[in-house]
Amino acid sequence: MERTLSIIKPDGVSRGLIGEVIKRLEENHIKVIAMKMIQMTPKQAQGFYAVHKDRPFFNSLTAFMTSGPVVVMVLEGKNVILKYRDLMGATNYKEAAEGTIRKDFATDIEKNIVHGSDATETAAFEIGYFFNSFEIMS
Ligand code: CMP
Repeated sequence: MERTLSIIKPDGVSRGLIGEVIKRLEENHIKVIAMKMIQMTPKQAQGFYAVHKDRPFFNSLTAFMTSGPVVVMVLEGKNVILKYRDLMGATNYKEAAEGTIRKDFATDIEKNIVHGSDATETAAFEIGYFFNSFEIMS
């Protein structure tokens, strides 16, 4: 069993896509074991995306991620990191496969509806960033 962090980004929340994302998770037998809605502060977003701090899109990304509420979830399942990344599609929606969340709904490389951890170590960091052990159903 593996865990990963999912974020429905401000564009996904404001466009009414929370239910659509969760429907796709459940249809694919991915379990939601923790969930909350938050609005990140600039410091929280900068800390979350610290690996990208030298990228040209860092300021714009953190401004976008703090622009409205997001839904953060912990997902659990067999190979869930890869499975959820396959459901999301490529970061750049123009390169995303048919039927993926980003292909169907993203409007921009930044406004790409969802985030998912990319590896076991990042998943552990990202889950711990938003949730304590009492908030995660096991
Ligand atoms: P995410 O999976 O949340 O990880 C980093 C985010 O940076 C990415 O999704 C995009 O929303 C955003 N981003 C903006 N521009 C780029 C870019 N050129 N390359 C990669 N990610 C980008």
